[in-house]
Amino acid sequence: MTRKSGPSTTRRGLLKGALAAGGAAVVGGAARAGNGDPAILEPQPWRTSLGDGVDAHPYGMPVEYERHVVRRNVPWLTADPVSSVNFTPLHELDGIITPNGLCFERHHGGAAVIDPGMHRLMINGLVDTPMVFTMEDIMRFPRENRVYFLECAANSGMEWRGAQLNGVQFTHGMVHNVMYTGVPLRYLLEAAGVKTAGTWILAEGGDASAMTRSIPIEKAMDDCLVAFKMNGEALRAEQGYPIRLVVPGWEGNMWVKWLRRIEVGDRPWHQREETSKYTDLMPDGRARRFTWVMDAKSVITSPSPQKPILHGPGRTVITGIAWSGRGTIPRVDVSLDGGVNWHRARMDGPSFDKSIHRFYYEFDWDGRPLLLQSRAMDSTGYVQPTKNQLREIRGTESIYHNNGIQTWAVNEKGIAENVEVS
Ligand code: MTE
Ligand code: CO
Repeated sequence: MTRKSGPSTTRRGLLKGALAAGGAAVVGGAARAGNGDPAILEPQPWRTSLGDGVDAHPYGMPVEYERHVVRRNVPWLTADPVSSVNFTPLHELDGIITPNGLCFERHHGGAAVIDPGMHRLMINGLVDTPMVFTMEDIMRFPRENRVYFLECAANSGMEWRGAQLNGVQFTHGMVHNVMYTGVPLRYLLEAAGVKTAGTWILAEGGDASAMTRSIPIEKAMDDCLVAFKMNGEALRAEQGYPIRLVVPGWEGNMWVKWLRRIEVGDRPWHQREETSKYTDLMPDGRARRFTWVMDAKSVITSPSPQKPILHGPGRTVITGIAWSGRGTIPRVDVSLDGGVNWHRARMDGPSFDKSIHRFYYEFDWDGRPLLLQSRAMDSTGYVQPTKNQLREIRGTESIYHNNGIQTWAVNEKGIAENVEVS
C-alpha cells in the first residue's frame, strides 16, 4: 500500500506502490478484484431506483446507517436528567469539529427554550451606564469567529480512583469543539463603561438553574465572547440559544448558557458553583478553588472500548484528540506498551489556540495485546501527566481537573478495555 503523500498519490504512483507491495492478494488491506464479491459484482437497489428528490429533508440529518452515533448518558450518574450530563460520541468522530447535534449537554435546570425576541442581556453593577441589550443590539457590534474546545471540569472525574467507565464517550466525552461566532464581551462592557473599581464580573444564566460564576475582569476583557452561532448556525437550545458566554481555555461551567446578565463588581461572589462545586479537595483537607484553566489532555478515540479493531493484524490506524487551555498542541506521543516506549504521532488538521487538535499513528499490528496511551505536550512545554503523578499531588478526593494519561488494553481479538497501568 502507499502511505506517502506527494507523487505517490497520483494514479501511476499508486499503481507503482501496489506493485512494489509484491503483487500479494491483499493490497493495503483491500482485496484484489475478481474474488466474486457480490457488493461489487451485483446491481444494488440504490443503482436501480431513484433516490429522494431535493427537499425530502429540508434540514438534513445523518444517514440511517449512522443512527448509533448519538450522545449518551449514564443514567446512574445523576438522580434526574434535568440536572445531568450526556456525552459526545468521540469514538465516532474525526477531524477537529464537533457536529452541533453531537455536542455533549450539561445542564443544571434543564435546557431552556428562549424566544430571542424576548431575550435581554443586562450589564449592571460598577458601570457608568447600566445597559439592557436586545438581540438586535448585540448584532450591531463587530463579530469574531473562533474555534474553541469546551471541557467540563468534571470530564474524566469518575476515573480519579481507578478505571471505571468502559468507553471514551463516557471517560472523556464532556468536551466539544466548535467554531463560535460572537461579539467580544469587551465591546459590551465598554459600551456600559466599567468603573476603575470593577475587577470582577458575575455571569448569570437565564435558565431555571440561574447558573452564576465570577470571572476576573482581565479574562472578560481579553478573549471572552458573547456567542450566538456555533459552526455557522444558531446555537442549539441545549447550548444556550440565543446567546452563551465563551470563556476560552477555562472550565466549561463558566461558559454560562442562556446568558442574561453581567454584573460588574470589585470581588468574586462565591456562588455555589465556585465554593461547594468546582473546587478540588486536597489530601491535607483544604480545597483548591478558582482552578479555571483546563490543562493539556489527550485521549485515543479509536481504537477504544466502543471502537474495537475489527480487521485483524496488519496495517492499523490509531487516532485521537488533544487540547490545552493554555495554547496549542504541537506534539502528541503514542505508546503501544503502556508508556514504556513512545512514538511521535502525526498531527493533522488546523492548529488553533485553545482548540482540539487531531493526531494519528499508523502502524503494523502484529496481533499481540496492546496497552495504548497518548501523551500531549502543549505550546508552553507542559507535558500531560500520568494518573498516578496527578494523584501524588492531588490525592483521590477530587472530581474535577483529571487530565491524566488514559490507557486502553487491546486484546488479540482487537477488543479494547479501560484499564490503568501502574
Ligand atoms: N449555563 C447555564 N445557564 N446553566 C447550566 O446548567 N452548565 C455549565 C455551563 N453553562 C450550565 C451553564 C456546565 S457545568 C458546562 S460543562 C457547560 O455549560 C456545558 O455546555 P454544553 O451543554 O454546551 O456542553
Ligand atoms: Co460542567
